[in-house]
Amino acid sequence: MKIIGTGSALPSLSVTNDMLARFLDTDDHWIQTRTGIQQRRVISKESLKELAVKATQNALDDAGLTAADLDYILCSNIANNYVTPALSCIIQGEIEATCPCLDLNGACAGFLYALDIAEAFLNSYQDKNILIVCAEEPTRFVNWNERSTSVLFGDGAGAVVVTKGTNLKALTLTTTSKVDVLYYRRLLENTPYAANAEGTEPLVMNGRDVFKLAVSSSVADIKKVMQEASITCEDVSYFLLHQANIRIIDSIREHLSQSPDKFPQNIEKYGNTSSASIPILLDELSRANKIKSKSMLVMSAFGAGFCTGACAIEWD
Ligand code: ACO
Repeated sequence: MKIIGTGSALPSLSVTNDMLARFLDTDDHWIQTRTGIQQRRVISKESLKELAVKATQNALDDAGLTAADLDYILCSNIANNYVTPALSCIIQGEIEATCPCLDLNGACAGFLYALDIAEAFLNSYQDKNILIVCAEEPTRFVNWNERSTSVLFGDGAGAVVVTKGTNLKALTLTTTSKVDVLYYRRLLENTPYAANAEGTEPLVMNGRDVFKLAVSSSVADIKKVMQEASITCEDVSYFLLHQANIRIIDSIREHLSQSPDKFPQNIEKYGNTSSASIPILLDELSRANKIKSKSMLVMSAFGAGFCTGACAIEWD
């Protein structure tokens, strides 16, 4: 595959650390030094659907395509207010596309899982153009009274259009079932035969375990794709990592002995936007003309599951 268009969209409301400190026992210094986050965009007036559609339109425009040119829509999303139909179906209707649609939940690694599915579809079927849109509103499933999780997240959408090509050099995925370290549990309806023993539980995270799993898995995934692509760190122009936490990114970078300029970041502005974080970052770099043609990009993400993934892809 190759990426032929990128797009992103963010909520209009910026919430600074000082704004959080008005109702949480926290402060700007703690949040910045532990996470790198200065502010995050939070859905208020707009809907996730609107952000997803805007990111999609931007990616289609960038690719020089219209919705009619799409052969498949893959949407990465953890949760939104529709359990069914899938968010991809809702986006399809809004942009007036007619292709099949599928949602996937690879948590924060969803973009990598979607790239893998898209690559398989491009190879197996007659599909030409596939939209991958990652749309996430984690601020709607964290507990806003709980300072260790609520300060970390922001909302947003990032999209790419991919088509046939030889630019994807390697891709690896791993899943290791570890539910307790990171989960969000929703309430189902009671029935005459099954009642809810427990209620909805906003996001629960064991931060230290997530930190260790994220660093070890990302370093292993990155080394694996570089080996499969027969490249070294020196061949890589940018490492685009899931924007979870500045200290996780720094630790991965130090394991690889690389300079900070190879690890672009936007977590300070947007917080952790889950699976949308890599496509948003990619779109920003692309629109700022910071990625030269033929540059090698290595992307790596990790999240609940525990699901991880990485790929090496040449910029077209
Ligand atoms: N403001 C002030 N103090 C806080 C806050 C806050 N927002 N949150 C926690 N604290 C306090 C804790 O209560 C604790 O106080 P105590 O010592 O009196 O008990 C103290 O800070 C230290 O807490 P720790 O959990 O030890 O802090 P740590 O240095 O581990 O940092 C953090 C916590 C930032 C969550 C860290 O564990 C981390 O980065 N984990 C990775 C989590 C992550 O990035 N998740 C992203 C979502 S998942 C994903 O995208 C894959």
